[in-house]
Amino acid sequence: MGTNDMLKTLILSAKDVRELLEMGEVMSAVEDAFRAYGEGKLWMPPKAYLKAGKGDFRAMPACMAGAASIKWVSFQPHNRSKGLPTVIGVMIYSDSETGYPLAVMDAAEITAYRTGATAAIASKYLARRDSHTLGLVGAGRQAYSQLLAHAEIFKLELIRIYDIRPEASQRFADFFPHLHIQASPLEDTASSDIVCTMTPAREPLVKREWIRNGTHINAVGADADGKQELDPTILSHAVVVVDDLRQASAGGEINVPISKGMFKLEQVDATLAQVVVGEKQGRKADDEITVFDATGIAIEDLATAKLVYEKAQQQGRGLAIELVETG
Ligand SMILES: NC(=O)c1ccc[n+]([C@@H]2O[C@H](COP(=O)([O-])OP(=O)(O)OC[C@H]3O[C@@H](n4cnc5c(N)ncnc54)[C@H](O)[C@@H]3O)[C@@H](O)[C@H]2O)c1
Repeated sequence: MGTNDMLKTLILSAKDVRELLEMGEVMSAVEDAFRAYGEGKLWMPPKAYLKAGKGDFRAMPACMAGAASIKWVSFQPHNRSKGLPTVIGVMIYSDSETGYPLAVMDAAEITAYRTGATAAIASKYLARRDSHTLGLVGAGRQAYSQLLAHAEIFKLELIRIYDIRPEASQRFADFFPHLHIQASPLEDTASSDIVCTMTPAREPLVKREWIRNGTHINAVGADADGKQELDPTILSHAVVVVDDLRQASAGGEINVPISKGMFKLEQVDATLAQVVVGEKQGRKADDEITVFDATGIAIEDLATAKLVYEKAQQQGRGLAIELVETG
């Protein structure tokens, strides 16, 4: 029997992935990935978009020594009425030397965890260290992991949440009974030390006058052409850090202001990887406003999928099948 006879592909469901993920571990893995990316040790092209239905599909490949992955994920804004999540898809995790597909796993949980982790890492580097109020705009799937991730780093005394569906804010507050969470008007939510915006809005929601000096904003919702959550004058008065310049200019918070001539690509101060490796500074003074424009990049998914795969192997989780022939 050859060694290849032992190879199988692990199928990992959303339940498997959820039970394997632990936010502190995801944050370390994702921060390491940003560092390695800044040092030129991880590779990825910008994500590819395909319009489909009322939403889109995204293909997000990335590679590092030993491992490669691709996320095939769809954003469908009307899925809730069909009882389905708005972000839905799968990831393939492979051996980068042989191409062998080591695992196929649910992508929605990975997306939520790595998105929360990335924003909280941005907050770690860009927010004021004494930040103790968190404002969450949008009480959907991403809000839960934003709170989990920020609670790993900051001593949060008050969490404000706003959603156009009040029942979503209430459900969120009920989910974390041990935390001080207030369903609040949008302007109060936006007046927090750290503000995370996570809506599919295509018009600015958050006004410049609500943002206090010293605030850090994670603009998470805009991740495709035409999406926008912030008054563009916030960007012109802020230190702007992006996850990836090409993706941010095509579909991030800066995409609409750039297309309308209200913001220039040269006004971006840094990428998160440059800040993590210490090549660029990010925040320089306590009264500055900082904005992290998060579009979601494939290295975050690769780092998280690697963690999930390794833990699944250690714990004997998932269904192992002979998906490809090795003979
Ligand atoms: N940047 C990234 O890496 C990344 C990752 C995942 C999702 N996203 C984006 O984040 C957004 C949210 O994703 P999700 O998975 O939480 O979706 P979701 O559908 O679970 O939640 C979205 C929430 O926003 C609320 N909402 C919609 N319009 C609003 C408005 N005008 N004001 C206030 N609330 C409003 C909805 O009621 C809903 O509760 C989407 O645009 C998605 O594409 C970005």
